Amino acid sequence: MTIHFIGAGPGAPDLITLRGRDLIAASPVCLYAGSLVPVALLGHCPPGARIVNTAPLSLDQIIAEMAAAHGAGQDVARLHSGDLSIWSAMGEQLRRLRALDIPFDVTPGVPAFAAAAAALEVELTLPGLAQSLVLTRTPGRASAMPPTESLTAFAATGATLAIHLSIHNLAQTVADLIPTYGSDCPVAVVWRASWPDQRIVRATLATIEHAVAGSMERTALILVGQVLGLPDFAESSLYTPDYDRRFRPQSAASRFAGTSE
Ligand SMILES: C[S@@+](CC[C@H](N)C(=O)[O-])C[C@H]1O[C@@H](n2cnc3c(N)ncnc32)[C@H](O)[C@@H]1O
Repeated sequence: MTIHFIGAGPGAPDLITLRGRDLIAASPVCLYAGSLVPVALLGHCPPGARIVNTAPLSLDQIIAEMAAAHGAGQDVARLHSGDLSIWSAMGEQLRRLRALDIPFDVTPGVPAFAAAAAALEVELTLPGLAQSLVLTRTPGRASAMPPTESLTAFAATGATLAIHLSIHNLAQTVADLIPTYGSDCPVAVVWRASWPDQRIVRATLATIEHAVAGSMERTALILVGQVLGLPDFAESSLYTPDYDRRFRPQSAASRFAGTSE
């Protein structure tokens, strides 16, 4: 038996991988992480499955559920929102499972930042404007930030920022970013990307607080950067007609000639 950690995606029930869906269907136990995992995904569980919302459980209780399934020889589908590589609390569960010698595997999911970018219909890395994306957050009640990971430190790079878990810190976020990004820098706040009640507000650093006033539901991403402003930017070299590349050598003398097979 195996504990299958599965990225459940950002909200829309069809934004899960086929592998994730099939593992849910094959697992007689499903542990899902509360309000951010779409309930429709639980419809893939086999008839009679034990389905447990882990939101009110402690880590000890969650591991006890996994150990009990392991003892009974049952596979477990363990669902977390988005992808598991960011803010999923998977790390501490894996550490416990390793110590208990309980096997597990990990299936990735669509992260919220990708769903938000899709909703905005933007590419977050545009030639000449931003070639890096910082996935970050601001400090929370339960989570301090490492001292070198302040918003002002990331802002010094000029990269596109995807700021999670921070809509309640919007005022401080704006104050931290204006000195480097400028008050006219484009910002988008996307609530519940890919859910039926998804909402988007576009503004600038100067106007975003006023624009979102009264819309403080917590499942939101703050995206900041010039790429959000429908900017003028250079096309990438990759598809220009005269760019010599492996899949489109420009002449018989090209170093790529005959290498594309
Ligand atoms: C605990 S983190 C989970 C992140 C998740 N593992 C991922 O891959 O995106 C929760 C935060 O992710 C963001 N988030 C998650 N789902 C979202 C969605 N559908 N729309 C906008 N933001 C979302 C919000 O910033 C929220 O506070």
